[in-house]
Amino acid sequence: MLKKHREPFIQPVYDPLLKNVELHVKREDVIHPYISGNKWYKLKYNVQEARRLGYDTLLTFGGAYSNHIHATSMAAKEAGLRSIGIIRGEELENKPLNKTLAFARQQGMQFEFIDRSAYREKNTNEFQQFLRQRFGQFYLVPEGGTNNLAVTGCMEIVNEEARRYDFVCCSVGTGGTVAGLIKGMQGMGHVLGFAALKGDFLKDEVKKLLQNHGGTAPTNWDIITHYHFGGYAKKDLELQEFMEAFELAHSIPLDPIYTGKLLYGLFDLAQKGFFPRGSRVLAVHSGGLQGK
Ligand SMILES: Cc1ncc(COP(=O)(O)O)c(C=O)c1O
Repeated sequence: MLKKHREPFIQPVYDPLLKNVELHVKREDVIHPYISGNKWYKLKYNVQEARRLGYDTLLTFGGAYSNHIHATSMAAKEAGLRSIGIIRGEELENKPLNKTLAFARQQGMQFEFIDRSAYREKNTNEFQQFLRQRFGQFYLVPEGGTNNLAVTGCMEIVNEEARRYDFVCCSVGTGGTVAGLIKGMQGMGHVLGFAALKGDFLKDEVKKLLQNHGGTAPTNWDIITHYHFGGYAKKDLELQEFMEAFELAHSIPLDPIYTGKLLYGLFDLAQKGFFPRGSRVLAVHSGGLQGK
C-alpha cells in the first residue's frame, strides 16, 4: 500500500580515517521524500493492518520535531486514512506551528497537545480510554512507530546482500528498527545499534521486542551506548564538525539526532580498532532529514 519512490542502494565510503574497515551505507533515506528510511518500513504493515481491520484513522504520539509524526501524516494520507497526532507540550497549542508540525497539518493531521506529565501516561489504560472517548475508533501506532508489525517491516531492510556483511549497524531510538535488522540477519554477521539517547535500558527493550516477535532469540547483536552526545536531540561542536566534514567528503546527508551519531560512532570505533582488520561494515541510513 505504501509505495517506494526509489529503491535503496549501497554506497561505499572511502575514507583513510576508517583504517582497515570497509564501510558502506545503505541509503534507505532515498526511498520516499517524506516517509524516509526506517519510517517507511515501520509504517508499511501498520497501515495495511489498519485498513484490514476497517479503521479509517491512525492515531500516534510524538514530540514537536518528531520524524515519526512527520512520516505518519503522509503515510496516512497516502493510504486514504485520517491521522491524529498526540503532541508532547501543551504550550505549543497557541504558538505558530514549526516546520514539522506545519507539514503534518498540511497532510491533514489533527493535533492534540498535551502536557508532559500526561504524555508520560500515554500508554496507560486510563489515557487510552480518554483518547477513545475523545476521538472514537482509531488504529493506534505507538510512539516512534515501534511495535511487532514495525519489527516485521524493518526485517525487510535486510536483503541477501546485507546478510553478507560482518556488521550491520543502525541508530536506535525506541529499538524497533534494530530489532528488525537483528531478525532480518537470521543469525548471520553481527548487528550493532547506536543509541541516540542515554540508553542503558535499550538492550532490555530490544530483547523484549525480539521476544514478542517470537522465534529464536538471536545473540549476534549489541547496543552501543556511548555516542549519545548528552542525550536525545543533544549535540556538540565535535559532532557538528564531523557531520560537515563527512557530508562534504561523501555526499551523504546526515541528521544530528540519529544518523550523525551513528556515523560518528562508527568512525570512532574504526579508529580505536574495535572492528577486526578488513571487516565489512554496513550502516543503514534511516532517513530523518526533515528535521535538519
Ligand atoms: C532517522 C531515524 N533514525 C533512527 C530512528 C530510531 O529508530 P527506532 O525508534 O526504531 O529505534 C528514528 C526514529 O524512528 C529515526 O527517525
